[in-house]
Amino acid sequence: MTDLWWKSSVVYQIYPRSFADADGDGMGDLRGVIDHLDHLAELGVDVLWLSPIYRSPQDDNGYDISDYQDIDPLFGDLATFDELLAGTHRRGMKLIMDLVVNHSSDEHPWFVASRSGKDNPKRDWYWWRPAREGMEPGAPGAEPTNWGSAFGGPAWTYDKETGEYYLHLFSPKQPDLNWENPEVREAVYAMMRWWLDRGVDGFRMDVINMISKVLPLADGRLTAGAAYGDGSSSYINGPRNHEFLREMHDQVFAGRPGMLTVGEMPGVTVDGAIKFTDQDRHEVDMVFQFDHVWADRGADPWQLIPLRLTALKGIFGRWQAGLAQVGWNSLYWNNHDQPRVVSRYGDDSPEHRVAAAKMLGTVLHLHRGTPYIYQGEELGMTNYPFRTIADFRDIEALGQYHQATVQEGRSPEEVLTVLRARGRDNARTPMQWDDSPHAGFTRGEPWLAVNPNYREINAKAERADPGSVFHHYRKLIELRHEEPAVVDGDFTMLLPHDERLYAFTRKFQTTELLVIGNFTGETVRAEIEDAIAWEEAELVLTNVAEPTGLTLQPWQAVVYRRSM
Ligand code: NOJ
Repeated sequence: MTDLWWKSSVVYQIYPRSFADADGDGMGDLRGVIDHLDHLAELGVDVLWLSPIYRSPQDDNGYDISDYQDIDPLFGDLATFDELLAGTHRRGMKLIMDLVVNHSSDEHPWFVASRSGKDNPKRDWYWWRPAREGMEPGAPGAEPTNWGSAFGGPAWTYDKETGEYYLHLFSPKQPDLNWENPEVREAVYAMMRWWLDRGVDGFRMDVINMISKVLPLADGRLTAGAAYGDGSSSYINGPRNHEFLREMHDQVFAGRPGMLTVGEMPGVTVDGAIKFTDQDRHEVDMVFQFDHVWADRGADPWQLIPLRLTALKGIFGRWQAGLAQVGWNSLYWNNHDQPRVVSRYGDDSPEHRVAAAKMLGTVLHLHRGTPYIYQGEELGMTNYPFRTIADFRDIEALGQYHQATVQEGRSPEEVLTVLRARGRDNARTPMQWDDSPHAGFTRGEPWLAVNPNYREINAKAERADPGSVFHHYRKLIELRHEEPAVVDGDFTMLLPHDERLYAFTRKFQTTELLVIGNFTGETVRAEIEDAIAWEEAELVLTNVAEPTGLTLQPWQAVVYRRSM
């Protein structure tokens, strides 16, 4: 039988530029990660996922790669990487790399060759198209399709020298690779094998459900007031996606058991995910989907929709049921693209932050799937108090702000309100290690401001405090390692219509777990069947000093266990 070790594992995501800076240049680096491996080993995580550390012009903080087989000097070099890998393995953890191959940097030699002339052998490695028929090349609106890019502006950039446009679903410095070309695929697979030969344990694959495009490339739907059309139906879950991933599996992973593959897939459906992660199809091990982090997003991107707990439960319930027999999901609240969950779906006030962070962690980790912890989540780190647009560094925030305010006529304050709540820089402020200047992240000037709450919220204080968020996360990981019902138990949602409590059971052989999280600052009684009997069962985990059975205190979580 295949060894599906990752089902009982917990992954920890490191965003290297914000994790720990050893050389004092204000930017995190690989030596900084090495210096803090014991923090991760103490937490008990099984796998480290490193956001990109390859050579890169850093237009999108490394998600724009100019050399897939070297380390950016900002972060260190290959020798330091090997040391990090060895240190990770020595502590019994695995390490997976971020694979960004929907696009490369425009400074990658592949693209430099491709743009150098229409006859260049690498021309077809990227998506080149002439101007829209009948339009003057380079004129406004002459782009080959009406698609907008993720970071604002059109998805096409005109290249004067050759008189054609190239496609970039993200920034103009991230041209999309043409996966229709077999030479592109072979080059990517060779690069992946090179990393596996070096000893890495797998890959998290960036927007991997965008690599196959619907041909011919055609205009997307244009909604009133929007500057660009929505091209997503031409590149999300495209027609050859499964085929490409199967080929990648055969070319890269066959004969290398025990590797982990995670497909980041915005817009993937439950049915799609079942196919992508069915072990018999040999595509990927698990998906990273977005439905639950888009639960507070409306049709208008510049409106904040308060979270409805019933909607969130509906989403999780659908995914849990869909992947119950075949397939596997990732479980996450946070990553480098999301705001901090305790500020988003919890309560980051001094009164409730600790309880809310623990409750959110408990509810997530007790689902079926592989949990991910994003750096600082184990401390209950919060969103940053951004004031003006000048406080942001993220290319997405800056690009979207420009498009919304200048091209679409939105008011700056309206846009800022959403960026403060949702902006990706919330996740990217430096890791808070201790209460020394800059939170012990750097002895230089940090590239992005440290959250002023670091004197209260930091790793040193939390490791020393048995009641901290850190130790609660440690227990959650331990529970997954020890209790098979957490890994394999059947999932049943309770109280689906309740806006205050999130409740479910997990059943495996003779064990049953009951999990309840109170998503409010009030005391709430859980009116479930069997409440009295449950109150007499074993309370495995909670986050309050004096538990009161199924009468849940503000932001309380409980995990009960009984034998059936
Ligand atoms: C998804 C990554 O998580 C995000 O940070 C990045 O900007 C885009 N893909 C483009 O690579």
